[in-house]
Amino acid sequence: MSGFDYDRVAARYDRHRSGGGPYFPRLTALADGCGATRVLEVGAGTGNETVLFLQAHPCALTALEPSANMLEAGRAKGLPVRWVRGAAPALPFQDGAFNFLFASYVLHHVRDLGPFLSECARVLACGCAAFVTVSQAFIHGHVMNAYFPSLAVIDAARFQPIPEVEAAMRAAGFRDVASEDSTSPPRIIDAEYIEKIADHFISTYALLPEDEFAKGLARLREDVFLRGKRISMVREATLVWGFR
Ligand SMILES: C[S@@+](CC[C@H](N)C(=O)[O-])C[C@H]1O[C@@H](n2cnc3c(N)ncnc32)[C@H](O)[C@@H]1O
Repeated sequence: MSGFDYDRVAARYDRHRSGGGPYFPRLTALADGCGATRVLEVGAGTGNETVLFLQAHPCALTALEPSANMLEAGRAKGLPVRWVRGAAPALPFQDGAFNFLFASYVLHHVRDLGPFLSECARVLACGCAAFVTVSQAFIHGHVMNAYFPSLAVIDAARFQPIPEVEAAMRAAGFRDVASEDSTSPPRIIDAEYIEKIADHFISTYALLPEDEFAKGLARLREDVFLRGKRISMVREATLVWGFR
């Protein structure tokens, strides 16, 4: 599946991560624009994005998720969703079963984009596929790199550069491929955010060498709590999409 065990973190993932983000209006506008009725979400996790998507765009939604514990946490929310256990690249659905497909923060877990995107094209009758990810510029400019130097090294290797994603989409048969960066308003790093880091709320923190993580966290706590440093952070996401 990936180098990270989502089964182990399902409970805390749901505590610390919520769906949505600066890309969300564009994501739902794309679904609205192609009149999406049958939607596939790949790597739906605990359904955080699923809840918001259904509210914004009511539809028949299938949520695919490889981790049994993430899926169970999602199913427990009682959403009107068909949950299916499975992992990209294989999509266990008939040709043309959907008219919209999306995946938020999943592409970096898929080693080879080609076979996965071909599967996406196969299960889409017509309509649109959209992927939420982050750019290399965001990874290299992340404010937490100052505390955890390996953060950017790990993520730059995991997250495919946006031009690579776009080229793979075109090669898989998508047309009018486009991408858009979006940012949330700046926020000041506070105790709540630091506790999320301490709880490895993003998989990258769990992939850091243990001593680097401990030292970086201690330094961050000192800066914020002892020195009163105000660290401003902007969340940025990139949405990449294409049509069939
Ligand atoms: C960062 S989480 C995102 C979850 C959800 N999309 C969200 O935004 O809250 C990544 C998810 O991708 C799933 N995943 C990992 N490898 C996958 C694969 N090969 N195919 C589909 N999903 C995968 C993980 O189990 C996890 O639930």
